[in-house]
Amino acid sequence: MRLGNTTNHFGWISILLHWILAPLLIGMFLLGDYMVDLDYYHPWYHDSLQWHKALGVIIMTIMLLRFIWNRLQAKPKPLQTDHLLQNRLATLGHWSLYLLIFALGISGYLISTAKGQGIDIFSFFELPALLPDNAERGELAGKIHEVIAISFIGLVIIHALAAFIHHFYYKDNTLKRMLGRTS
Ligand code: HEM
Repeated sequence: MRLGNTTNHFGWISILLHWILAPLLIGMFLLGDYMVDLDYYHPWYHDSLQWHKALGVIIMTIMLLRFIWNRLQAKPKPLQTDHLLQNRLATLGHWSLYLLIFALGISGYLISTAKGQGIDIFSFFELPALLPDNAERGELAGKIHEVIAISFIGLVIIHALAAFIHHFYYKDNTLKRMLGRTS
């Protein structure tokens, strides 16, 4: 199988990026949901936040590479060619997923750096705080981050359901070709 996409198939790079990022992004949501309820004295209170921030920066970097890669690639055509509205909604859904993910990254950065501290990436590198300190901005960004995270996970559920509808109801290759199981 090829590395790049064609108008009928996803190549291995797109497939790998999709399936590496999907559990990471869902995991980030679950980690975020878990850590906000932790007590300050809980042994995981600081570490979970540290992991969430460092992984967030790594995931955003991979997402950016994925976005650029996909822009350079052919886009596989929808398999239900006569379902125009459905196909438009699918494209809108994919763009919205990208938009929500980048909005999550930006709002996360604004929360983390509101007190003037950069983001430490596992002691290898620090992403600097580029804006002046502003606790109010951090609080607002926190509320926005939460709303976007919930909308994102809602859209992921709809997206996954749509993939299963293609697989079990239309019995087409939409899911199979994202798994690299079509020739
Ligand atoms: C965090 C989770 C997920 C995100 C952010 C995501 C995002 C995307 C995006 C942006 C695309 C468009 C192609 C691309 O840019 O690579 C896509 C395609 C696809 N996704 Fe996901 N996805 C996620 C999870 C899932 C899950 C759980 C399933 C199925 C169980 C799934 C099934 C598919 C399929 C079948 C396609 C191909 C659709 C087509 O042929 O047009 N995705 N996904």
